[in-house]
Amino acid sequence: MARNLCICLLVASLAALASARKLQASDTDVVAIIQVAGAATTSLAKHTAKSTADASGAIELSGRGRRIEILMAVMSRCPDARAAEATMDQVLTRLHSIATVRLVYIGSFNSSSSPYGITCKHGEIECAGNTQQLCAAKYSGQGPAEADVVEPWTRGWRFIMCQNKQYTDIGKEALAESCFQEVGFTATGASLARACWSGPEVRSMLRNSARQAEKLRASVSATIFVDGQYRCTRNGGQWADCPGGGEADDFVLTVCEAYRRVSYVWPEDICGPQPGLDK
Ligand SMILES: *[C@@H]1O[C@H](CO)[C@@H](O)[C@H](O)[C@H]1NC(C)=O
Repeated sequence: MARNLCICLLVASLAALASARKLQASDTDVVAIIQVAGAATTSLAKHTAKSTADASGAIELSGRGRRIEILMAVMSRCPDARAAEATMDQVLTRLHSIATVRLVYIGSFNSSSSPYGITCKHGEIECAGNTQQLCAAKYSGQGPAEADVVEPWTRGWRFIMCQNKQYTDIGKEALAESCFQEVGFTATGASLARACWSGPEVRSMLRNSARQAEKLRASVSATIFVDGQYRCTRNGGQWADCPGGGEADDFVLTVCEAYRRVSYVWPEDICGPQPGLDK
């Protein structure tokens, strides 16, 4: 079906993308250096047994090292984003206690496009969907935690999973409202999220998000990064440029390895036996 073949690519040049990827390889070294510094801070923090959050929002948990961030650059109405999010949902089901997920929304800057100054590839309704997801994520932690909500970010993630079940309606308010109900937003959380996407704050949120995607050179929905390093692209119904593999288990391994790198511990209870170590 034509819809499934939609290629969610903002810059229609694969050659440009390939060279961008090469540039990124050198960036990766810088990221690795920053990570070493970050790991040192993490172990220091552990010695003082303090719970702390650094500037990037990484969280030090008691008994656990810092969470590994899975970052997805997406367009909310893109079929490849939906597929990538479904895979990542399996990953997060296993790794929620050592990982976190963040989404940035790809869009092009356009001063004549109101109200956001951003043009979204799948139309204005996609920009609306992007803002709903951003605002839901921001306010998902409002109100008392519920027994089945295992981590603070999960309600925002489930909101996206809920929208994806009815993907032709992503961006419509009625779907957002029914998803608030389905995933257990509190009345306060829902009203803050609603005020967020209908109010002035969302313009800068959406623009900052697009700017972050641009900085990462992520113009294809979905482009996935693990702990700041490029990992994989979902494009045209398949994984591409994905040397580590595109199965949920492959991403689990990447996250577990990143966790070991920054925390010097292989979390066997979550990740299973460490590969390459025979007992
Ligand atoms: C910029 O926004 C205007 C108004 O929405 C639109 O007509 C135009 O096509 C956009 N330009 C680009 C390059 O997307």
